[in-house]
Amino acid sequence: MTETSGTAIRGQLLWFTGAPDTPSNIHHIEDGVLLMEDRKITACGPAKDILPRLPKGTAVDHYPGHLILPGFIDAHVHYPQIQIMGAHGKQLLDWLNDYTFKAELAYRNPDHATLNAEFFCDELLRNGTTTAATFCTVHPTSAEALFTAASGRHMAMIGGRVMMDRHAPEGLRDTPQQAYEQCGALIRKWHKTGRNRYALTPRFAPSCSPEQMEVAQSLRQEYPDVYVQSHLSENCAEIDWVKELYPERNGYLDVYDHYELTGPRSLLGHGIHLTDAEWQSLADRQTTLVHCPTSNLFLGSGLFDLARTRTENVPVALGTDVGAGTSLSLLATLGEAYKIAQLRGASLSAFEAFHMITLGAAQALNLDHEIGSFEVGKTGDVVVLDPNATSLLHHRMKYTDTLEELLFVLMTIGDDRAIKATYTAGEKRHSR
Ligand code: GUN
Ligand code: ZN
Repeated sequence: MTETSGTAIRGQLLWFTGAPDTPSNIHHIEDGVLLMEDRKITACGPAKDILPRLPKGTAVDHYPGHLILPGFIDAHVHYPQIQIMGAHGKQLLDWLNDYTFKAELAYRNPDHATLNAEFFCDELLRNGTTTAATFCTVHPTSAEALFTAASGRHMAMIGGRVMMDRHAPEGLRDTPQQAYEQCGALIRKWHKTGRNRYALTPRFAPSCSPEQMEVAQSLRQEYPDVYVQSHLSENCAEIDWVKELYPERNGYLDVYDHYELTGPRSLLGHGIHLTDAEWQSLADRQTTLVHCPTSNLFLGSGLFDLARTRTENVPVALGTDVGAGTSLSLLATLGEAYKIAQLRGASLSAFEAFHMITLGAAQALNLDHEIGSFEVGKTGDVVVLDPNATSLLHHRMKYTDTLEELLFVLMTIGDDRAIKATYTAGEKRHSR
């Protein structure tokens, strides 16, 4: 090891190098040290091996009794909607019209966008989330604000300005030409600038005309390594509407398939009501579904079939989908994913759950070369969990015997209070 001053984190380490149904993919060190130098992980192993070899001047942040994991990944969230979380009483299409669009109109004001983007990024870190695939609004300033806030915190952010040229109020609609010019400019400025990545963000098929979809298709051809994020088959009335608007297409997913907006690096939120042919297409093209359990329950959208993603080999990640989602905590979100699995007669183990918000998500997002585990060479994005953060957790933990039990309790009754510290690119950005 060289004589640079890095940061070492000491405590109980847990990470995955593959799906946890193979036990050798689960890595757990009771007293471990993770060394981060120049933003990257440069060593990881038992404290007794690493501590004597630490370069002089390395700060050691010691977290006895804590659990240290790779930073969490939220694969679907709308930062402008934080201000409408918990809006009462509607299903998707009414909720969009009555609450969402009104809130998003305010983002034409750059000061409002900046205030909320900064707040959003701080909240992500308070929740242990170091990467998020984030919807902005139709206003380019909303994306500028997000990428600026994320850059200041060295987060690996995926974001995009919403494309929406119909079925939305004046002030929230663009034209295909504006979308082409503004999204192209944002891609050139922000995609792969620092840790940022751009996602083309056609809001969903109902809000995009065929001409708008063609623009998204052209931009993806011009910039083939950008992401795509959108919504798919969340609500039954929404699906009927897509069939009316795109009668020439063979269902909802076929709209995105037709415009070549699927495949690796395409993240489609929800996918609750899918046909057999749609499952097949997702698997064939390796399009990622993003399960958003708190949102699906809140809007009464339906129960996602997580087990089928495994049997069909469809990549899957987890999203909070704030503001239809009711928490920015991926711990709380896992707790709801478990309950939905229960209602479907399936299950979700604690190891599967924590894999899903770390390495599993990194793989689904094609970012596993950079994030998702503690392998040497990856970027130092880390979350430190306090299993005794609240009096209830402290009491409950006395009655857990295994790591798996502890993790399961954390995802069932834990929340942002269980996040002791969050690091991005090797540096502490949040602690409590
Ligand atoms: N479908 C289209 N837009 C949205 C949105 O903002 N939230 C959710 N949950 N679904 C959508
Ligand atoms: Zn959404």
